[in-house]
Amino acid sequence: MGIIGGGPAGLLLSRLLALRGIDSVVLENRSREYVEQRIRAGILEQHSVDTLVGAGVGDRLRREGLEHRGIHLQWPGTRHALDFQQLCGRTVWVYGQTEVVKDLVAAQLDGGPPLLFEVSDVMPEDVDGERPRIRFTDADDTPQVLECDVIAGTDGFHGVSRPVVQGGTPGRVWERTYPYAWLGILADAPPATDELIYAWHPEGFALYSMRSPSVSRLYLQVDPSERIEDWSDQRIWDALDTRFAFGGWSVNRGPVTDRSILPMRSFVSTPMRRGRLFLAGDAAHIVPPTGAKGLNLAIADVTRLAAAFARLLQDRQTDLVDAYSDAALARVWRCTHFSWWMTSMLHRSGDAFDAQLQLSQLRRVCASEAAARELAENYTGLPVD
Ligand code: APR
Ligand code: PHB
Repeated sequence: MGIIGGGPAGLLLSRLLALRGIDSVVLENRSREYVEQRIRAGILEQHSVDTLVGAGVGDRLRREGLEHRGIHLQWPGTRHALDFQQLCGRTVWVYGQTEVVKDLVAAQLDGGPPLLFEVSDVMPEDVDGERPRIRFTDADDTPQVLECDVIAGTDGFHGVSRPVVQGGTPGRVWERTYPYAWLGILADAPPATDELIYAWHPEGFALYSMRSPSVSRLYLQVDPSERIEDWSDQRIWDALDTRFAFGGWSVNRGPVTDRSILPMRSFVSTPMRRGRLFLAGDAAHIVPPTGAKGLNLAIADVTRLAAAFARLLQDRQTDLVDAYSDAALARVWRCTHFSWWMTSMLHRSGDAFDAQLQLSQLRRVCASEAAARELAENYTGLPVD
């Protein structure tokens, strides 16, 4: 079978299929260096960790990943710890998506199914028939055709698969853009906090995250029109100090090794299938990063898709592929709601009434075990059926 896109979704799908004895070819249009350097999210739900460990790519994750029992919610004068372990019996892990991709690429190149980098002109064809194919040009500029039983479109938000799915079925796209963006930095500085801090502040949201005991990942809400060139290190650290201010505590500074501005949107493309072409991960849906759901959703999609493909190709049963889109979308919408809710609760809109509602919601989450548990269950990830 053919897999378009070698991000976490495509690579993990190929690995899960190989473990079930199903061959695949992964086609990636970027270079290995590019996909291994791309800085992305960093929080894994328990079920994502279990999936990666079960797929035999969890050794470094278990060694180097940091288990987090909860998060802190902050607003001026208050920093409140939510203990997920206590609230819902589950935890999350800090381990960069970049590291997940490196582990998956290494496993794939070590005797796994073919993974072709730097391909171009990738196009799925005849997806409504029994024998779909993918046309592409390989890294040596030779046109190729890959005949497939089924095709997975795991080529991210800007890929070629989603337009093909939308072009054939009465589909629909659901979208919300937010008037916010995140300025994210990586810094060689030991995190000054044991757990992540989600901070509401009149000047805008800030998030204190990390990648390891010596590397911090920090975000500031900025206007989407902001340009990264206008943010000096000094301006970034000063804004972080202001938004995280809490008693005598302070943010740890260090050399900034990466910086970028990320747009925020919610996006869902339905259905997630046309004929023998199936979408998974960012190819079908985007969530704003506030709930740390993007990577976990991609992992949940391909876990479901691997089981459905195995049932189709090995047992000749179509029940799971037929159920795939609706079942995957149920989780997608849950995560879309949660990410929208976290985003709405924490970002400065500029409206004074909104700010009062946000503070009331934050106080509620911290005062009520039921409200806190609702956040904890969603953040740590609902069980995959
Ligand atoms: N042909 C081949 N590969 C393609 C094409 C194409 N036409 N278009 C895009 N790709 C590749 C991209 O270069 C990328 O490596 O598909 C891959 C898609 O990977 P991701 O964008 O990482 O998407 P996904 O694997 O679904 O992972 C979702 O990524 O964006 C984050 O927050 C998101 O953490 C989540 C995760
Ligand atoms: C990250 O570390 O990149 C991160 C953590 C939590 C989020 C979003 C991003 O909610």
